[in-house]
Amino acid sequence: MMKKIFLLLVVLAITLSSRAWDYDILVSTPNTSLLFAANKGGDLRFAYYGDRITPGQINQIHDAWVGLNRPAYPAFGMDCTRSYAIQVVHPDGNMTLNLVVEGVEETKSENATVTSITMKDKVYPFTVKMNCKAYQNSDVIEIWTGIFHTEKKAVTLKRFDSACLPIRRGDVWISHLHGTWLAESSLTAEPLTPGMKVIHNTDGIRNGQLDHAELMFSLDGKPRENEGRVIGAALCWSGNYKLRVDTQDNHSHMLFAGMNEEASEYKLEPKTTFTTPKLAITYTNEGLSGASRNYHRWARNGQIHGGNVPRDILLNSWEGVYFDINEEVMDQMMQDIADMGGELFVMDDGWFGDKYPRNNDHSSLGDWVVNRRKLPNGIEGLITTAKKHGIKFGIWIEPESTNTVSELYDKHPDWVIRVPNREPRYGRGGTQLLLDLSNPQVQDFVFSVVDDLMTRYPEIAYMKWDANLSLLNYGSSYLPKDKQSHLYIEYHRGLEKAVQRIREKYPNLVMQACGGGGGRVNYGAMQGFDEFWVSDNTDAMQRIFMQWGTSYFFPPIAMAQHVSASPNHQTGKIVPIKFRFDVAMTGRLGMEIQPNTMNEQEKQFARKAIATYKEIRPVIQFGDLYRLISPFDKKEVASLMYITPEKDRAVFFAYKLDHYMNQLIPPFRMAGLKEDRFYRIKELNVPEGEKPCQLHDKIVSGKILMNVGLEIPLGKEYASRIFELNLVR
Ligand code: DGJ
Repeated sequence: MMKKIFLLLVVLAITLSSRAWDYDILVSTPNTSLLFAANKGGDLRFAYYGDRITPGQINQIHDAWVGLNRPAYPAFGMDCTRSYAIQVVHPDGNMTLNLVVEGVEETKSENATVTSITMKDKVYPFTVKMNCKAYQNSDVIEIWTGIFHTEKKAVTLKRFDSACLPIRRGDVWISHLHGTWLAESSLTAEPLTPGMKVIHNTDGIRNGQLDHAELMFSLDGKPRENEGRVIGAALCWSGNYKLRVDTQDNHSHMLFAGMNEEASEYKLEPKTTFTTPKLAITYTNEGLSGASRNYHRWARNGQIHGGNVPRDILLNSWEGVYFDINEEVMDQMMQDIADMGGELFVMDDGWFGDKYPRNNDHSSLGDWVVNRRKLPNGIEGLITTAKKHGIKFGIWIEPESTNTVSELYDKHPDWVIRVPNREPRYGRGGTQLLLDLSNPQVQDFVFSVVDDLMTRYPEIAYMKWDANLSLLNYGSSYLPKDKQSHLYIEYHRGLEKAVQRIREKYPNLVMQACGGGGGRVNYGAMQGFDEFWVSDNTDAMQRIFMQWGTSYFFPPIAMAQHVSASPNHQTGKIVPIKFRFDVAMTGRLGMEIQPNTMNEQEKQFARKAIATYKEIRPVIQFGDLYRLISPFDKKEVASLMYITPEKDRAVFFAYKLDHYMNQLIPPFRMAGLKEDRFYRIKELNVPEGEKPCQLHDKIVSGKILMNVGLEIPLGKEYASRIFELNLVR
């Protein structure tokens, strides 16, 4: 009887009044809010993520029951019928956790508020602190946890996700990036169906080449670029990761994101904190492009290095001369890029190695001394040459690796990652091995690679940091026997430490993260880097696709996009110089070509295009991106545009992807402009001897540009157009 009365009272309480929680934890950015709720002695519940709400509206959220009331950080053990974010084994063999909310703290800084929710186990001295950093200059919230205990011996962490995010079940689609070497960042959009969708990485070193650690959820059916509600999630971790979306019940899709736990069981010693990487989430009702703009703003405000500094236009030597570096050719390339208006020259692979000269990929990694036979006047000579041509100088390194044919390996064979009693599997060149960055001595060495170069040649303005090897031989010569399973994690923590030290000492050095192409395209790696190499494939047609995908999460200022030779070295395609520039100009423009193979007409085009890029650089590098027609939608065209925050200037790009007679080309409808204002259209990159198209110099209202669109002549194969729009009234 008593039981019945109690039940009745609970039901009445739920139906008659709003559900009161002991804690309502509201985390807000300028336009979004995340709401958790908890009762004293109870677990943390997720209630809401979406448009910003005020504290006064919290009860309405609970009343309207839009709140999902799902576990916010489910732990394995006491309710082990569902997926969980954390699983541990205590020293006494107990495998359960029962985490209840103990307290909430808020810390404010200039641009963000961190809300920390402490959850404690009911029996064991084991704590999880969940932190939510809400930015006030972008609509991104970072979530991570600190795991800590004071048990008698180490606790084994078997799963340690950064966060869990419930998403109301419905016609929800996910967009994610998948690729491979030479074809990174291909976009897939698919509806979420019952079951578990797992996106993960097991490379060990470069985690951006195959699947990407970022997702977008379109909540209102098939993803649209400029409409609909979207939640984005980006895991900021350069190592192996796992994103799981579990659609198990009729109510919600549960996203779990964190370091990949496979082969990574972690023995957490008492009184030490295990900090998980950040999961950066965003919400918008402006479609996929809106979520991208949120990420781009957040990235430029501190998630990539130097996010507010305009980027130089460069020539990289790789596809021009590969390993055939010598003083004369460097001088000639510097002169040529300077003549075309470029601002920086980067000498790629092949410049180093004394005892073992680097003439191919079989040797020398680790020996970061100049090859005096190729470069008798050393780096200082090259810097003088760059100065003579009025440009800056940059250099390539691959500090995380060595070759068995190198002075470094002769001296420190114990520094490499390998299994003690097995013949190693070698990587590139048949001799490449990884250095064990879990070892502090190796961290010092990696730091010293940059530090020595910068100390000797402080005028080096740019470094391309390459990484061409996966973790093949699972075995650390540094970690103890019982902590071998920490290697995947400690490698990246070691890398982070080395990069951080470099950053503290050399804040103005521009650094590119390259992972044998796009392997390092991830926010875990990007904190210390200004930009990344999108792909080793520089074919302009394929780049339209790869750059489109990459722009979902990463800002154009960080995307290195180079004009290369025709026929293209990867695909053999013959592509006009205009198309190559029109594609490269949507990001950080550069060239990767031997300029002495370009004819005068091409050089003349390059000169003008580089001058034009300098004019539009602020709009491209700091503007808001609106993607318009997706190359993945198979409409045979693609287009995108960039707009200043004031909406007084824009740059629009259109490309033809296929070419045949009687092709149906859709009108190009823009987005993001001021509807009631007028813009003058100016065509850019018009080849010598050709006239701008009929749209040039026309004044059209934002409304017409966005609702009706432009009929753009794209008559030929590889046709493309760039328009600058300037607000006139
Ligand atoms: C792989 C990079 O992706 C290329 O751009 C180039 O730097 C080579 N490595 C050099 O070995």
